Amino acid sequence: MSRTLPLARASRSGLGDAVRAAVAGVVHPALDRPLGELGLVGDVTARGGRVAVTVRTLVREASPADPLRGLVELAALGVDGVRDVEVRTSTLEETGRASLAGRLRAGNRRPGALGSSARVYAVASGKGGVGKSSVTANLAVALARSGQRVGVLDADVWGYSVPQLFGVREQPVAVKGVMLPVQTHGVRLMSIGFFVDEEQPVVWRGPMLQKALEQFLDDVCWGELDVLLVDLPPGTGDVPLTVLELLPDAAMLVVTTPQRAAEQVAARVGRMALDARMPVAGVVENMTGGGFGSGGGDRLAETLGAPVLGRVPLDEALCRAGDDGVPLLLSEPDAPAARALAGVAAALPVVRRSLVGRSLPLFVG
Ligand SMILES: Nc1ncnc2c1ncn2[C@@H]1O[C@H](COP(=O)(O)OP(=O)(O)OP(=O)(O)O)[C@@H](O)[C@H]1O
Ligand SMILES: [Mg+2]
Repeated sequence: MSRTLPLARASRSGLGDAVRAAVAGVVHPALDRPLGELGLVGDVTARGGRVAVTVRTLVREASPADPLRGLVELAALGVDGVRDVEVRTSTLEETGRASLAGRLRAGNRRPGALGSSARVYAVASGKGGVGKSSVTANLAVALARSGQRVGVLDADVWGYSVPQLFGVREQPVAVKGVMLPVQTHGVRLMSIGFFVDEEQPVVWRGPMLQKALEQFLDDVCWGELDVLLVDLPPGTGDVPLTVLELLPDAAMLVVTTPQRAAEQVAARVGRMALDARMPVAGVVENMTGGGFGSGGGDRLAETLGAPVLGRVPLDEALCRAGDDGVPLLLSEPDAPAARALAGVAAALPVVRRSLVGRSLPLFVG
């Protein structure tokens, strides 16, 4: 008996090691890096074919529905000899948090900057209330459903609406100054609205504003994104200008109503982008057929030398979806506005840097 014991131990730890290696390779769904690299794999024990894996989490109460649990379980079950898996969680302790923050910072790149995979679109308009945020939210959902990794940055620091449109209001998780976006419907969100009291006015300007936007780009761990949509406030004020400066490789999407007055002010925003050498990826005409005049999208597109990516009809369902906090593409995918918005997402041109360092719109499809 004393001779069989060491053998039994060796085989147990062999299985434990194999499970540990498999779990270390699981890519964290919010951080886009393997758990092993992030230092988030805790104890792994194996007894017979039964294994228990402890994963370190960033928040105290990791929800049982946390997608990470499922991924860890699957990875462990994939190891030969594993019959049963128990996933436990323990909150990452102070030193672990500090080293995780360091690793996240080291791997973080401003979306759209050199070395980042993200295409960045700034959604702008001349007038307020033409539907920028509604278009942004639904484009994000459409792109995420097509398998892309999508982020939405609510750059409307005073009139933020992203939390409402997605029906989320929670403090983002932060690890030593590195913020994680709030994930919902497969989209990563960041908004000043997650941090402030709804009734409280946001009164930043000038340097504070610039700092806040920089933080949203550099201190948020967006992970590997394919697309970042930036929801701008209307007009050509401080925020759109700052975004232009901070994200020189972005392209602009201009939203307008068919009305001549809206189209004319939208043209100013488009020209501001072009003057800053930011390409205009396209025009979205919203509230088409709603008695707001006609032809605004076409005229704006002609002025800016950019395509009309779609015409979104005036649709009460879109308004309702905004109030309910569920993007229309999810709540009523067959509504006329939802179909039109899905079309805009499919028509979104890929904008790449040209060899001479200027960005040029390239059209797909
Ligand atoms: N096609 C549409 N049909 C019906 N209602 C719409 C449509 N597009 C937007 N709306 C509604 O119009 C209002 C303004 O939309 P939204 O907030 O998206 O505009 P915005 O351009 O982001 O506004 P702001 O300039 O204030 O940021 C919302 O109540 C929204 O639900
Ligand atoms: Mg808005």
